Amino acid sequence: MKIAIGHTRWATHGVASNENAHPHFDSENSLALVHNGIIENFDEIKNFLINKKKIFLSETDSEVLAHLIAYNYKKDIIKALKSSLDIIKGSYAIAFIHKDFPKRIILASKDSPMAIGFTENKKEIIISSDPNSFVGRNLHVLFLQNDELGFIENNEIFIFNKNLKKIAKQAEKVNCKNISFSKNNFEHYMLKEIYEQPFTIQKTILGRISKNSQNCYFEEHTIDIDFLNRFKNIKLIACGTSYHASLLASYLFEDISKIETRAYIGSEMRFQNILNIKESLIIAISQSGETADTILPVKELKKNGATVLSIINKSNSTLSRESDYSLYLKAGPEFSVCSTKAFTSQISLLLLLAIHFEKLKNNNKSNSDYLIKNLLKVPNEIKKLLKRAEEIKKLSIKYAKYENFYFLGKNLMYVTAVEAALKLKEISYINATAYPAGEMKHGPLALVNGNLPIVAFMANDKTYDKMYSNVIEAKTRGSPILAIAKKKDKDIEKIADDVFYIDDSIDETAIFSSSVFGQLFAYYIAKERNTDIDQPRNLAKSVTVE
Ligand code: M6R
Repeated sequence: MKIAIGHTRWATHGVASNENAHPHFDSENSLALVHNGIIENFDEIKNFLINKKKIFLSETDSEVLAHLIAYNYKKDIIKALKSSLDIIKGSYAIAFIHKDFPKRIILASKDSPMAIGFTENKKEIIISSDPNSFVGRNLHVLFLQNDELGFIENNEIFIFNKNLKKIAKQAEKVNCKNISFSKNNFEHYMLKEIYEQPFTIQKTILGRISKNSQNCYFEEHTIDIDFLNRFKNIKLIACGTSYHASLLASYLFEDISKIETRAYIGSEMRFQNILNIKESLIIAISQSGETADTILPVKELKKNGATVLSIINKSNSTLSRESDYSLYLKAGPEFSVCSTKAFTSQISLLLLLAIHFEKLKNNNKSNSDYLIKNLLKVPNEIKKLLKRAEEIKKLSIKYAKYENFYFLGKNLMYVTAVEAALKLKEISYINATAYPAGEMKHGPLALVNGNLPIVAFMANDKTYDKMYSNVIEAKTRGSPILAIAKKKDKDIEKIADDVFYIDDSIDETAIFSSSVFGQLFAYYIAKERNTDIDQPRNLAKSVTVE
């Protein structure tokens, strides 16, 4: 069996350079190590090792691991690893090789995912911090849990618990063979994934709605009134685009299901005083299911007795293993760093949940059937919108010259604007800031001038008139206005320089077409600016460090 290790580094400590690239070595070049995660007390350990005459070649936190394990190695390499990990603070998925064991890869993980995929006869064993790398393969997969360590040697996998007791782990069969890396003739994964949305939304909702469109089902778990009655409120946790989906859900759960709801940013939640944990239904949302900023608060809440329902795109993920219940988006793998189809599937599923909760609470007197009927129209509305991509492209080319944008909206359209602004920032490197339109007069209006266009998300009947006035306030001060409005609201042409009309859908589903407009607008601006659309600088698809 031939062995090799490698790592695509996402820089945390030290710039992206050859010196900081993995693998890292100890001073005697006896071992080579790759690490995903963050070693929080690396400074202290580094000073200790420098005093022991160890020579460091990089600025990374990871290098201390290589020196430390080599320093602790006397006779037993596993014991050396264990005693090193005992003093490490932080998160890690580690793989290393040592010259004394030429056929062995040694591993360990804590708060950083590590999957071991292997063929039936174990002739091939692949270790990865992201099971996405198994795409195209049909493998058995073991997931290392916190504090587990082990090694691979001669077609065998050996795993130990934290007391160094050998354990037998149950493998899962993960069939990624039929998942294709193909872009299907699209120039970018992002564009392909945008165009998949009529189909992916269908995958998320169909099969969860009864034939007469009156009931919702979640095949993964029975969510009935006894389940719902266990909770007084809902707390959502997520990051980035998934956080925007959870923010939308906080409006939907309060408006439709009449359940008190709050959305939390994962990386903030750990430092907030969270009240009434046991009586809250915690809903964690993540495309990848591997986002450390979402997983860590989930783990803490679980320790304090929380019930966690997660909404994930990828099965076999760390978040699904940490949750009591998981619902899956079924949107298929999302490769572009910039999330698109996962977002629209998340909001479809969350809208369905909001409807389902309303129905459970109101028994036979539910008044949300019209919501289901409108949700079922969404795939077709998006199909129609995608046929108008050329119109959006022309608008994007016109606006691509600006360096700063305000994205405005009110109510559900405010959150839609926040998500659309993130898309533009992420892939075109243009500064786009989203505000609830009413906030403009409380400060942001000071920046408004002819060089700062406003992208006004107007497709919300509840707030259209107020939004109209807020847009006039910016127009009066010179901002170019691009409005996204419902077809019936033609009066917007009086004040907007450009208007993109979407179908006259209800407010709860207008978020879909408006979001797809935002995705394509960002895509074509980025294309005009010739940026790396699928892999924007400084970003990674799943962020497994805090
Ligand atoms: O996998 P997750 O949904 O947990 O990822 C959360 C964010 O990192 C992710 O949504 C990020 O904001 C996207 N790159 C946005 O397009």
